[in-house]
Amino acid sequence: MFSLLILFLCGIANVLSGPAISLNLCKSGDDVCTAAAAQAALPLVLAANEEIGAEDLDPLFQPEIEGNLSILKFKLFNTTLTGLKSCTVDSAKYNEEALTVQIVLLCPKFTMHGWYDIDGRLIVLPVKGTGDYSLESLDYKLKVDMELKTIEKDGKSYRNVKNFKVEAEAQTGVTYDFRNLFNGQKDLADTVLKFANENWKEVAHEVQEPVFSAVLKRIIKNANKYLKTLPIDEYLPQ
Ligand SMILES: *[C@@H]1O[C@H](CO)[C@@H](O)[C@H](O)[C@H]1NC(C)=O
Ligand SMILES: *[C@@H]1O[C@H](CO)[C@@H](O)[C@H](O)[C@H]1NC(C)=O
Repeated sequence: MFSLLILFLCGIANVLSGPAISLNLCKSGDDVCTAAAAQAALPLVLAANEEIGAEDLDPLFQPEIEGNLSILKFKLFNTTLTGLKSCTVDSAKYNEEALTVQIVLLCPKFTMHGWYDIDGRLIVLPVKGTGDYSLESLDYKLKVDMELKTIEKDGKSYRNVKNFKVEAEAQTGVTYDFRNLFNGQKDLADTVLKFANENWKEVAHEVQEPVFSAVLKRIIKNANKYLKTLPIDEYLPQ
């Protein structure tokens, strides 16, 4: 049996370059081969493709991201995230029976900037404010679990990513700069920023989920646009 991912890659190669391209096929359970296939597919999934309506995702612009934690509410507006194209695939698994795919990405550097609005408690400290923000992270690890489904259209079957879950971990450091916290009261603002930068890992763990959910939604939207152009019988073994 062949890995969906490598076939997905072939499919993308077909969409981009015509059907003549042939690539190595992975055996099911060959995670090394599957990871290599995912690595090859990743830059294509992140790039614009007008023919199928895929968007360029580096930089990625996101008008609004909302975080609704019990003790902290925040909104990020007009966020620009750069760095997705430098992510590499650390490992990947495809389970043909369960129709699940897991991909672990290592992302050496993200930068984000935009406008924030925050109110609540950041772990132990009260925090409130609105203004410009920027942040930079080193070595994020993203574990993405996807569930696939089969859809029928015009007598053909296609695969699509039905839903996903992302677990993120900041591994080396995050620096946060939120301007105008507490309406510019410097003592209060400096205390929160110092706390956030000293406890970057815990703070990232608290607040990152809505960001990565929004980002993965965009990546999977692109991937599904490719998958929609590829009937299963063009890439699954007969
Ligand atoms: C967050 O909470 C607000 C107010 O309770 C609600 O209107 C909004 O839909 C929630 N957003 C999310 C993403 O859950
Ligand atoms: C986001 O950008 C739009 C378009 O430039 C602008 O109209 C809007 O005011 C911005 N939002 C914030 C909160 O800065």
